[in-house]
Amino acid sequence: MHLRSLKCALTNTNFIRFSLSFGPPSPVSIPIRSIQHLSKCNFFSTKPAEMAKPSVYVTREINKEALAVLADTCEVTFWPGPDPVPRSELLKNIAHKDALLCMLTDKIDAEVLQCAEQLKVIATMSVGYDHLDLKEIKKHEIKVGYTPGILTHATAELTVALLLATSRRLFEANAAARNGGWQAWSPFWMTGPGLEGATVGIAGFGRIGQEVAKRLIPFQIKKLIYFNRSQKPEAESTMGAVRVTFDELLQQSDFLVVCCALTSDTVGMFDKAAFHKMKKTAIFVNTSRGGLVDQDELVKALQEERIAGAGLDVMTPEPLPLDHPLFKLKNCVIMPHIASAAVQTRAGMAMLSVENIVAGLKGEKMPSELTLD
Ligand code: DGY
Repeated sequence: MHLRSLKCALTNTNFIRFSLSFGPPSPVSIPIRSIQHLSKCNFFSTKPAEMAKPSVYVTREINKEALAVLADTCEVTFWPGPDPVPRSELLKNIAHKDALLCMLTDKIDAEVLQCAEQLKVIATMSVGYDHLDLKEIKKHEIKVGYTPGILTHATAELTVALLLATSRRLFEANAAARNGGWQAWSPFWMTGPGLEGATVGIAGFGRIGQEVAKRLIPFQIKKLIYFNRSQKPEAESTMGAVRVTFDELLQQSDFLVVCCALTSDTVGMFDKAAFHKMKKTAIFVNTSRGGLVDQDELVKALQEERIAGAGLDVMTPEPLPLDHPLFKLKNCVIMPHIASAAVQTRAGMAMLSVENIVAGLKGEKMPSELTLD
């Protein structure tokens, strides 16, 4: 019996014993140019100090600090560089790995899991987990870690920046200033809706939605409304937020900010009917997932000026093809999925992912473990 066929959750103390008593694993495959091998495989050693470490595949180069912590207790291979690991490399390298540290760009589905019969732990360096097939993962009794909380503030900050850039036409105005479009100060040139006195609507009033709200309240907004599965009594009493139906959110919002997770319930919730119910003056902002929006209908709504503008940090697909109609629209501001891209946030996300892996491999509760129900 080989170690790789063991699907049991190994505890801190029995991990090494298992690796020794069940014989040699299959050879670890390390593509010479594409994969960097961080520490030597030593499954066959009998000296306690040199006993085999669990193996981890990391699908992108992350910061040295986080990799060093991982390499302390694990044998680490990773896909180097800034681009996503090609699917074929992922399928090849996941074999005989005990853990996977992945990104939101990696689809972890039945095909991947089939190649990963030794896998016990997955940690995604993201709060979103719509790229993970949780049903399949649960079938394989694999634990999942993710990174909620740590990116809340950075994401809320960028959401506010994107909202203002869209409503106050910052990129359009900057381009005009640079290309000669700025002739003279002009009473109504480059105007856009202000937040003062506005109704702000938030779809998805969890951690990020509430932090966005906190940052927008000081702009002297008139009303804060939210649409959420559950009521948020504390936010209602501290922020004066009012829970509304989805239709009310669409009809009343001057600024509509999307902060909900992408699930089978929320996919495509901003469709043709939704855009038709919104105010013609509304600004739509999405920093959550592109899949929440019927993008063709959003394009039409913007082209036909059924809404005033959209600020998007997420879209479908990502990256958006350069010839996509959204890029041709002046009333659309597009960011390349950077909401959590504050330096310290990304470092924190990487470290939390590593901590999730280390704890998961020890059979301990991960600092941020996803409950698979
Ligand atoms: C996440 O973590 O899900 C974000 O979209 C990435 O910043």
